[in-house]
Order: sequence, then structure tokens, then C-alpha cells
Amino acid sequence: MSKHHHAGASRAPLRPLSLLVVALAMVAGGSAMPGASEAAEASSSPDAKASAVADPGQWPAMKSPLAVDPALERRIKALLAKMSVEEKVGQLVQGDIASLTPDDVRKYRLGSALAGGNSDPGNDYHATAAQWVALADELYRASMDTRGGHNAIPLLFGIDAVHGHNNLVGATLFPHNIGLGATRDPELMREIAVATAVELRVTGLDWTFAPTLAVPQDDRWGRTYEGYSENPEVVASYAGPLIEGLQGKVGGKDFLSPRHVIATAKHFLGDGGTHDGRDTGDTQVSETVLRDTHGAGYAPALQAGAQAVMASFSSWNGAKMHGNQSLLTGVLKQRMGFDGFVVGDWNAQGQLPGCTTTDCPDAINAGMDMIMAPDTWRGYYESTLKHVKAGRIPMARLDDAVTRILRVKMRAGLFEAGLPSKRALSGQAALLGDPKHRAVARRAVRESLVLLKNQGQLLPLDPKGRILVAGDGADDIGKQSGGWTLTWQGTGLKASDFPGAQSIWAGIQEQVKAAGGGTELSVEGRYSQKPDVAIVVFGEDPYAEFQGDIKTVAYKPASTQDLALLKRLKSEGIKVVAVFLSGRPLWVNREINASDAFVAAWLPGSEGGGIADVLLRGANGKAAHDFRGKLPYSWPRDAVQTPLNVGQANYSPQFAYGYGLTYADKGDLASLSEEPGVDLGANQSDRFFERGALIKGWRLRTTAQDAATSELTRPIESRNVGVSVSAVDHKAQEDAWRFKWTGPGLSKVALVPAQPLDLGRETNGDALLLLTLRRESDVAPDARFFVECGEGCSGSVAVGAQLAALPLDTWTRVGVPLKCFQAANASMGRLTVVPGIEAQAGTQLSISEVGYGTTADRLLECGP
Ligand code: BGC
Ligand code: BGC
Repeated sequence: MSKHHHAGASRAPLRPLSLLVVALAMVAGGSAMPGASEAAEASSSPDAKASAVADPGQWPAMKSPLAVDPALERRIKALLAKMSVEEKVGQLVQGDIASLTPDDVRKYRLGSALAGGNSDPGNDYHATAAQWVALADELYRASMDTRGGHNAIPLLFGIDAVHGHNNLVGATLFPHNIGLGATRDPELMREIAVATAVELRVTGLDWTFAPTLAVPQDDRWGRTYEGYSENPEVVASYAGPLIEGLQGKVGGKDFLSPRHVIATAKHFLGDGGTHDGRDTGDTQVSETVLRDTHGAGYAPALQAGAQAVMASFSSWNGAKMHGNQSLLTGVLKQRMGFDGFVVGDWNAQGQLPGCTTTDCPDAINAGMDMIMAPDTWRGYYESTLKHVKAGRIPMARLDDAVTRILRVKMRAGLFEAGLPSKRALSGQAALLGDPKHRAVARRAVRESLVLLKNQGQLLPLDPKGRILVAGDGADDIGKQSGGWTLTWQGTGLKASDFPGAQSIWAGIQEQVKAAGGGTELSVEGRYSQKPDVAIVVFGEDPYAEFQGDIKTVAYKPASTQDLALLKRLKSEGIKVVAVFLSGRPLWVNREINASDAFVAAWLPGSEGGGIADVLLRGANGKAAHDFRGKLPYSWPRDAVQTPLNVGQANYSPQFAYGYGLTYADKGDLASLSEEPGVDLGANQSDRFFERGALIKGWRLRTTAQDAATSELTRPIESRNVGVSVSAVDHKAQEDAWRFKWTGPGLSKVALVPAQPLDLGRETNGDALLLLTLRRESDVAPDARFFVECGEGCSGSVAVGAQLAALPLDTWTRVGVPLKCFQAANASMGRLTVVPGIEAQAGTQLSISEVGYGTTADRLLECGP
């Protein structure tokens, strides 16, 4: 294989075969089966028969790398024999620290707690290591409290340390996995995992929900960056070192020692294959593809001794993973010999047919051992207890689940470890963001950068010259770190949230200054003295699950601000280096054409200096570090080229998987096509009403108190009952509608979609219903926003007082969590009205935009 592939060059299709086969052969003590790769199908091939029941015989036969320890098994049995049914059920239930107290742990004997992406001690994301340790102590003490005749069983405390210990202010933030995938450096994964485990232990935590072994196939998925690569070989090659780095080596003295933590291989299985890249969606592939593409990381992870596996939110051929007995029990536990425990994902049990978040025996019966019931743990505990007593969950299944959890706790030495604060690394705050860890992270940044274009070998730059640094990503550590950073979505952060970290700008400035050159920062690209060259840092704003799902792979289809900046600088005769921050490859041909050099920098994290290390020449005039990164995902040639994966038929990307220039390469690129393949402006259907128009096929319905209705698609005042509608101006002529409730009494206006609309996924993802409105009258307290979902189905939220509190005659974008409507009994999967407004005669509102999204000027509460 040549060092890199030129733009657009196709390469020999890679068979998604794999290390899985190799690992299987190793386990079996044989050699890789010849012809195995031929049997593997391309991941895009249609399904012959879409069954959701796996045949375990098709999967690798494996044994746990940890030999059965008879003494430990006896100890588990003895403890189990002393446990009450209540205690056993408690072990299966995991609550979130935002919704549970140490007293709850004491009373319900819960086996585990987690800290979700937005959960911190005292609800403060600035909580210190000492505060985390103190909370860990309290939870532990509660779990060990034997008053009332209880058994002392230490609680497991888990968190998403997915790019370093990312919930902690001051921790080292490693590049997100997509960037690590570009390094092709499995041993670096080990070092990162070792450092992450140490930082976790400083804060009293024993368990991380990582690594993600997803093999993302459709880059519209908002979790693409959590996967190392679209190529299962990369994921498989990383899985072992990651698990060993986190947990220590099986058989070695450091295995699950106090410097290590329990790891979680997630999300089992097929998370990266979800259809159209929809979060928590359906993976429609054959069993072969499920095994060889999506399952590739699991054999090596299990072989390295992974003690926990997290089940996926998603489905395989229509059946939710949390209920898939053939995969959870038949394949994972029986065939592949997994003897640790399977934990659920965030309230995912509620998505099984016939289940709710607080009641789901089927998940346990399918083979789930621990249920992540963040805010629903109490209800889940109670229903599970009832089901066990009624025999709906067999005692043997309960005992098996508890046995698995106790086995992991004992292997991790938790019964002997004592108070979290007394453990080896606890409270050593200096290890959080330890310079040694930061050095590993900085190296990872250097290795992750992928050079796509270097016209006239513009790079590396001379630090003795004048360099302008521009773009909204230049000096924004939150933006360069992406989602799962201090908060779940990584949004709303400021520079002071990142002590010890370095922005990309700061890294450049440091080295240019030291070399005696001149540099200037201007987000808008203004300068006091004409620079020799500009480095423009721009890209995606932070996002995580669901909220990051997009409809095409176009970069910011609605905004050309960055492009305009690149073009202006060039037109002023300045050479431009683009540094692109993103959680996935995106169609940026226009931006590439407008730049002399283009670097895919992914989401580098806290060590922005790693960028300057590669972009600038060192003291001897040569680049101190060359580019080494190779594309871990294929780069699209237009905005609709997805799914796009190496090995698929008619593979024709803009930049092939594995592409990446070095300084030895010429780096010139002919002008790329600027044809997006889709109307970029037309793809914003998260708006139901904007620019004075409804979505095609949608109608507006008004309903008077006497139930008379009228419908319209344009604002024609005279035609309606109950509410009159006319056109007004917000930002442009007649881009908004004015609603005047004419009465008598309460009447309604409602947006009616052409087809029932499914906002289930958006609701699950904490999206908001958004209305940009202007209050033009008083609003009585009984005004309500509502949705309808078919005959007899609706949900409404009281908003009168909240609207009345808005400034008069001022445009405000208000947001109401979609979850409010769900809590008010609406079925968010089939909305027939979204939204409606009910108000008293005399109310007057103008509205310029209705839709859903994540940011509002004014967040409304669910209300009574
Ligand atoms: C995510 C998991 C994560 C869990 C706990 C879920 O929504 O899918 O990856 O581990 O939340 O935060
Ligand atoms: C939590 C995340 C979780 C998500 C799932 C958030 O509130 O902080 O950890 O993954 O909800 O919906």
C-alpha cells in the first residue's frame, strides 16, 4: 500500500474482514481461515434476509481470558446466599447522581451510580477533585452500611471519560476518537488510556463508559467522532490496547489495580450502522456485516479482559438491542465467553416494545445485567422487585446478573479497597491535567492532523514571519474540544473553564514569539499590519448525541461566513492555511478551493499547541514534526455522498480513506467541484414555519370555542374563526404572521403537518420546541402550547405567565423542552399538531419562526 492516496484516487477495495477473524484464530489457537474475507460482505450490500435473531454459531467461539477462580466464585455464592431479593434487585439498578442521594443508595442497596454528561457533585461542573472524592465516599459508605442487617456491597461509580476525564475542569482532554483514528497508533491508545485511568482515580471513580467501539458508517450521525474509524480494522487494532490501558493487563500485577479502572466496550452492537445516521435508530445489515464490521472491536476487547459491555440504544433489523437475547446472551455471553456484566444505556429500556423506563422485565430476561435508570431508578427497582416475586423474571436470571456484577466488583478489589478517599491516587489533584498526560495528548494532536492540500508547499510556515490567526475556532478551547466536554453537549463553556489548557492560537503565538516573528489574533481576520500568511481556524460547533445528527454532509449549509473570510483574505493577497475543526468529514470543497493549505484537525482537545508543532518550522528551519495522520473516514465529494465507506462498490470519495499528505509530498490540488449535489438552502426542515411560509403540505388550523374550525396555508385575515391571521414583518417583508385571538373565550391556532411527524428521537435528545415570537398584548395565565398525536392523544404546557413575562413588542426565541409535552402524555412519535397555541380573546402574538432545535433566548418550563 502506498503511503497515501491522491484525492479522488480509488483504491483496492478493502475487505471488511479482519482482526476479528485473526483474533478468533488466536483464541482457537489456529491460523486465520483462508477465504474468510471473501465471505465478508461489503457493509453497504442489501440484506438477503433481515432477521433480528442472531445465530451464535456464526460468531467467534471464545473463552474469558480470566480463568475461573474457584475461590472467588465460592465467595460470590456465599454472599449471594445471604442476600435478600431486595438486595439482589438493588445491585441491578444504576441511578444518576443528579437524581439520587447517598441515603437512597443506603435504603435501596443500589449497586451502582453514574454521573451523566451534565451531572456533577452539587450540580456544579466546576466541582473539584476533592468534591468528587467526597461524593464517592458518601456513596460508598452508604453501600457498605450494614445497619438493618444489610450486606456490605461496595457501589460502582461510573462516568463517561471518553476523551480523557472530560467532565472535570482541569483534566487532560485528549483528541476525540476520530482524531485518534487518524494516528493509526495503537500503542498511543494505551498511553492515553493509562493516563485517563489515573485521572479518574484521582477523583474517586472506578469505572468509565469507554471505549466506544462503534464503526460509524454514515457520517450524518452526531456520534461519528466517538468512533475511531469507519474501518473495522482500525477499531479492532485499538480495542485491546485501550482496554489494557484502562484496566491493566490480564494476568499482570496491575490488572484492575488502584491505578486502573473498569472499562466498558460500547455500544453493543451495531451502534455505528444506524440507518441514515439517525441516533438511537435501526441498523439494517446482515449478521455477517454486524459481526465483521460492527462487531470487529469486541473480540479483541473481550480478549483483553473488558469487564463491562454497554448495550446500544439502537436496533438491529428492527429489534432493540436491549431486548435482543440472541446477541446479549447467545452471542456475547455464551459464544464469546463474556463473564463480566452488561450495562444498559441511558433509559434505553424504555424503548423496548411493551416497556417503560420504569418497567421492563424483558431487558433483564434478554440478558441485561444492570439497567442505567438515571432518574427512573426507583420505579425501575420497584417494578423489577415485583417481577422477580411474581416469577416474571426467573430467580436464576437475577442470580446470574448479580453474580456477574459481584464478580467484577471482587476482581476490581472493591471489597478490600476501603473508602475512595483512602485509595492510592485519590485527591492527588496535581495528577489531573498532569504535564505528562498533557504531553501525551499533545503528541496525539500532532499525530492526528491530516493534511489535505498544501499548494506550492506553503506549509510549514516560517515562525519568524508575520502570521495572522483568524476564525472563530482560533481561540476557543470549548470549540476545539467538541461534545462530552464539561457538559454533555460541550456547549456554553468559556475560556476560564479550561485551566492549564491551550487554545490553537495560544500555541501558535507561543512559538512565533519565541522565534522572533510577529503574530496577531482576529476572529474576523482584520489586521493592523499586513501578514505574510493567515491561519484560519473554523469548523463545527460542539455537539453530542442526537443533537449532532445532520441531514447532509455539507458543512454548515446555512452559513457561508467562514468561506467569505477565507475568500476575503485571499483577495487581499494573503496566503491562507485552513485548520478545520470537525467531528466528521464534511463537504468543504468551496473552503478547500479558497485555501492554499487545508488541515483536518478533528477535535483536538485541550492541547492546542500540537497544531503549531506541525504547522511551523523549528529552529533549524525545518518542520519539527511532519504530518502523520491518515484519514480514518472517507471524505465526501458532495453533500449527499453518505454512507461513504472504504470497500464499498463504486467507491469514489473526494479523499480516500487513508489519504494524508506529508511534507515530502507536492500537495498541489486542482480546483474541486463546488457542486453540492443538493439544494443546500432547502435542507433545513427542522423549521415548520419560516420566512412567512409553512412547509409544503402543512396547514394552519384555527379552532373557535364552539369547535368550529378553519384552515389556511397563507395569512388571509378574513377567513378564520377564533383567531385571525395576517402578515407582518420581522427581518424581511411579510416574513412573520400575526395572530389575534378574537374569541369568544379560549380559541386555538395549530400547525398541522402533511403527515404525522415523528419527533421521538428529538424528544429523547432533549431538543426544544422553538418559536420566535413577539408579544403584542397581555397574555392570560391560562394560555397553553400543545401538541396532538391522533384521536384522544395530546399534551399541553401552561405558558401564559411565562409569555406574559416576555418584554412587550420584542422578538424573542422561546424554547420549550419537547419532553414537557411527552410528560404531559403526548406520543411524540406521531404528531398531528405541532405546535398549537390556545389563548383568551384579546391575546396578540406575532411569530416569525417555528421549529425545533437546541438554543433559545428564553427557556420556558414545563409548568403545571
Ligand atoms: C450514551 C452513552 C453514555 C450514557 C451515560 C448515553 O446517552 O449513549 O454513551 O455512556 O449516556 O452518559
Ligand atoms: C446526560 C447524558 C446522557 C443524556 C441522554 C443527558 O442529560 O447528561 O449523560 O447521555 O442525557 O439523553
